[in-house]
Amino acid sequence: MGKKSNPLTRDIDRASAYSIVKMLQVCDSQMFQKEAGTIYQRLLSDQVVKTLMEVAKRVEVIIKDPQESCVVMSGCGTSGRLAFLISSGFNKALSQLNQSEVYSYIIAGGDRALLSSQEAPEDDPRLGVLNLKKVCEGKKRVLFIGISCGLSAPFVAGQLDFCLQHPEVYTPVLVGFNPAHQARDEPIQDCTFTFHSVVQRMQELAKSQKAFLINPAVGPEAISGSSRMKGGSATKILLEAAFSAAHAATSSNTPITHNGVLQHMMAYERTLAVTYSQTDGITTLVEAAGQSLQCSRHVYYLGWGSLALLGLIDASECSPTFGADYEDVRGFIRGGYRELNNNDGPLTSLGPKFSIAHEDFLHLILPCLTDKDTVLLIYTHSDDATEVGNMARRVREKTPNLHAVYHQADGDTAASLQQDDIKKLCLSTLKITWPQEALVSGTLQHMRELSTKLVLNAVSTGAHVLKGKIYQNHMIDLQVTNTKLYRRATRLLQKLSACPEEKCEEALLKAIYRVDMLTLEMTSSDITTHTCFARNSTKVVPLALVILLTGWSLVEAESHLKQQPIVREAVAQWMW
Ligand code: F6P
Repeated sequence: MGKKSNPLTRDIDRASAYSIVKMLQVCDSQMFQKEAGTIYQRLLSDQVVKTLMEVAKRVEVIIKDPQESCVVMSGCGTSGRLAFLISSGFNKALSQLNQSEVYSYIIAGGDRALLSSQEAPEDDPRLGVLNLKKVCEGKKRVLFIGISCGLSAPFVAGQLDFCLQHPEVYTPVLVGFNPAHQARDEPIQDCTFTFHSVVQRMQELAKSQKAFLINPAVGPEAISGSSRMKGGSATKILLEAAFSAAHAATSSNTPITHNGVLQHMMAYERTLAVTYSQTDGITTLVEAAGQSLQCSRHVYYLGWGSLALLGLIDASECSPTFGADYEDVRGFIRGGYRELNNNDGPLTSLGPKFSIAHEDFLHLILPCLTDKDTVLLIYTHSDDATEVGNMARRVREKTPNLHAVYHQADGDTAASLQQDDIKKLCLSTLKITWPQEALVSGTLQHMRELSTKLVLNAVSTGAHVLKGKIYQNHMIDLQVTNTKLYRRATRLLQKLSACPEEKCEEALLKAIYRVDMLTLEMTSSDITTHTCFARNSTKVVPLALVILLTGWSLVEAESHLKQQPIVREAVAQWMW
């Protein structure tokens, strides 16, 4: 998944909002494509379901012995955010049954990374191990689930290596979406292992079920490298299918079955169908959000319950993915940190982007809201409709550009009366109706969450595409703040400029250090030094690309990009 560009979306940068949504639908549906014609496992492959059953059995044992054991999920960026979302959801489910919580999450860079991009810690395997040891203190049995969509993060590789060294306590599971042989083989500083070598050791142990690999192919991302999309969705699907099976088995004292796991996964396939059956509604949201961003205004997600969390996550990904400012797309959750219930508690003191409660929205944002901003209410029929209505009225006083994403259960007429009032206040309402049987089977919450994720990913991706942030299907204004991203930037420059690697790296360094003549000190520094410096530089890759394509000096390139921030256009102007 990591390196390939999806042929379906090659021209997404020139597509209409409607076509963008349609392209995303086709890309997402690739997740459930069958094995035919490929040698790789897919999401619904027998082997994947079997591995999930084995993992579920381990989880079942842990749920029955919560004092001495735990399940730990860990990842970087979106993978860590999903670890948080999933652990929160399943811990809540256990608490509701008066059972002890067994799930923990680790995210590289700590809790601040739940809401902001912290890419440098991703490179640090030792930090991963330290975090893991801390979470597992005193435990005799740990099921460790490392998530790295591209099978690439050294932070996760370090943790898996540690598990492999302590098999008496740790059983490692790896979740990712590349075939094992494509795991990253780049040396990790001061380590004897690479991600690839760790995967090979795990493959050996997987034969005796002492380690587990869950790495089906899901097809390339719509925007290259944007693993927050399918990678994130598939992570959610796989882990929830396994944990749900374990929970069902524990509460009903019945065995975990192949069919049970498979059925849960197929409920997500239906989720895609239900969600994308609303293409027109999603398109309206993409258009509204796109218009806001195009005129440098903002998009706000105001959510309730776990759906709000998906809003927070989607919004926080816009800075690293699209080089956006944190104010461009923001999420707010009813109940703030109380509802979030994260390890480190309130993070408000870390800065304005960590204000996430509805009250914060009312105090900080509402007074300056204009009709150029887009506001999305995200809620379900079980949320307090009076509260949603009040919020809708407050927003409506400032702007008519208010929209709703509303999940209801089929035949739920009681809720729909109040819903009508809210609907009247909104410019558009995306109503997603779930069949009653989802309520019964306990999959409803998972379906609504995935559906919300798909909608919001479409809104933020589509809006940034419309703003001109994408070149073909590549995000070029990516941050170059860790080794993976540095390599990705160099590859991208090679692809788009057709210049040799050496020249591309030279242009990249010029853009990072903002000079036309690189000093020996600069060229002889290691990648970590470059990526540290790049933390304070903006528009690094666009600048490097313009330099490569036009031969302009750094100053010239900077001034042209200032006048025309869309690279395709900036270069086109030069060509004419
Ligand atoms: O380095 C940033 C990033 O690419 C994020 O966008 C992504 O969510 C994260 O790394 C994790 O990637 P992976 O799941 O492949 O380790």
